[in-house]
Amino acid sequence: MAIYPGMFPYTRMRRMRRDDFSRRLMRENVLTANDLIWPVFVMEGENQREAIASMPGVERISIDLLVKEAREAFDLGIPAIAIFPVTPQEAKTDKAEEAWNPDGLAQRAVRAVKAAVPALGVITDVALDPFTSHGQDGLMDENGYILNDETVSALTKQALSHAEAGADVVAPSDMMDGRIGEIRDVLEQHGHLNTRILAYSAKYASSFYGPFRDAVGSAANLKGGNKYSYQMDPANSDEALWEVALDLQEGADMVMIKPGMPYLDIVRRIKEEFKAPTYVYHVSGEYAMLKAAGMNGWINEKACVLEALLGMKRAGADGILTYYAKQVAEWLKHG
Ligand code: PBG
Repeated sequence: MAIYPGMFPYTRMRRMRRDDFSRRLMRENVLTANDLIWPVFVMEGENQREAIASMPGVERISIDLLVKEAREAFDLGIPAIAIFPVTPQEAKTDKAEEAWNPDGLAQRAVRAVKAAVPALGVITDVALDPFTSHGQDGLMDENGYILNDETVSALTKQALSHAEAGADVVAPSDMMDGRIGEIRDVLEQHGHLNTRILAYSAKYASSFYGPFRDAVGSAANLKGGNKYSYQMDPANSDEALWEVALDLQEGADMVMIKPGMPYLDIVRRIKEEFKAPTYVYHVSGEYAMLKAAGMNGWINEKACVLEALLGMKRAGADGILTYYAKQVAEWLKHG
């Protein structure tokens, strides 16, 4: 066989893979605690914890326990948490008024965490599903259709109440049209110039959200059974770029793709096209799959989780929302 530069055996890809030192030297991506955002479920009461059946290892916790957990997350180097309230059934209404109650669970949780751990970033979810009696993210007309503009004005009230409670970042996850611009306007008008908006820009109508809906108790209520009239069709990719373009124009500081693993092509396209801070949500169903397989001894949980999250970094994500955040930060710190 003739020998040409650039060809085997001049080039042997395995040379660099032979030793740990050269593998480390050519490593392109790394996962650190700085990449993690920890979603947490908060409930009423004191010293309360509740397991979530479909998410072993994840709990709903009362605000006092959340404050402790938040401090631990901060000490592990996690930059931010994302708070999801579990609204008591009796506080849910058709119009979701509880969403902008200044003394609502989310607002109280934000104040408590910011008072105790001021340097930890606090992100809130802006959407109506934990507060509507029907479990949809917006307000519903008599035919069950989710009304866009009426919902957007409710969301601006909710986002403002979060900013007033001290949230550093508001994260609209509702997929209504025009909500980023309206929220940005209201924040500016009230002097919240530095409240960041993390837009769930490319949020797909995914079946991987099942365990989350159990966790916040919106699954049983979910009238209509799906969110197809506002969340994106999993078949689409160009549409995700269009959504991101609009959200950035309207004033988003950060954009998100959701779910994670089945949508990393979208993460890559969005990062390449816009070069904006880009996040990905490793959602509840993805957590449940890794956890279940790990608990059964079918996969090495730690290795698979770290690989899944590294894959998100490699795809172009600047950060990852994951229920594994605290666990991963511990693994990274203590091995
Ligand atoms: C609702 C919301 C959902 C998630 C975050 N915010 C569920 C949904 O849209 O039905 C899902 C998160 C997860 O599955 O981990 N606004």
